[in-house]
Amino acid sequence: MPKIISILNQKGGVGKTTLTVHLATALARAGERVLLIDADPQGSALDWSAAREGAALFPVAGLPKASLHKELPALAAGYTVVLIDGPPRVYDVARSAIMASDLVLIPVQPSPYDVWAAKEIVDLLAEAAVFKPTLKSAFVVNRKIANTAIGRDVTDALAEYPVPVLSASVCQRVLFAESAARGQTVYELMPDGAAGKEIDALTAEVLGMAV
Ligand SMILES: Nc1ncnc2c1ncn2[C@@H]1O[C@H](COP(=O)(O)OP(=O)(O)OP(=O)(O)O)[C@@H](O)[C@H]1O
Ligand SMILES: [Mg+2]
Repeated sequence: MPKIISILNQKGGVGKTTLTVHLATALARAGERVLLIDADPQGSALDWSAAREGAALFPVAGLPKASLHKELPALAAGYTVVLIDGPPRVYDVARSAIMASDLVLIPVQPSPYDVWAAKEIVDLLAEAAVFKPTLKSAFVVNRKIANTAIGRDVTDALAEYPVPVLSASVCQRVLFAESAARGQTVYELMPDGAAGKEIDALTAEVLGMAV
């Protein structure tokens, strides 16, 4: 069975799609057979894939449905990792993604608004834990601003929730937006750059959790 990892947050614009396409790329580069499920009716990961000019490293399939957990096993056959890019706000799809997952990653920006808004997804996870006790979850700090205390502050504030914060985090870098415009990733725009190294570290930590 493939490992199923959802990237979820009811709050919009926190970096769910950005982290999903980067994790998918890093995992594919590491030799995993990756399927990316776009569970967002906005279809951002599908748009990203359509904008891509180079060869695809993994397929992207749209499945923005509350029946996702029922349909996924048939689609996931033959893959080693399935990443699900979640929608903002849509509860029934997020619930279905949680049901399907072994691990849920929650991107949060270093802002008190993101810390407060995370309560919604943490509550959904707590609901699911009743009938899915093996489910794992973790926060990922995204858009950290280098040389500021706010990254550390957000980690402290998130400690109020019963969900761990990954040690790997991703900084605010314009390269993430620039690469997305062409359906690419930071690896292609700047091979061996600092952004790619952050994604490598994140991927290693996620793989360690998902086994
Ligand atoms: N680490 C980063 N550095 C710079 N820009 C970033 C970073 N992460 C995300 N962004 C930018 O922030 C915006 C929102 O990111 P993204 O679309 O990944 O969020 P999302 O959570 O998927 O949003 P939605 O809830 O609408 O699906 C995009 O323009 C993206 O390029
Ligand atoms: Mg998105």
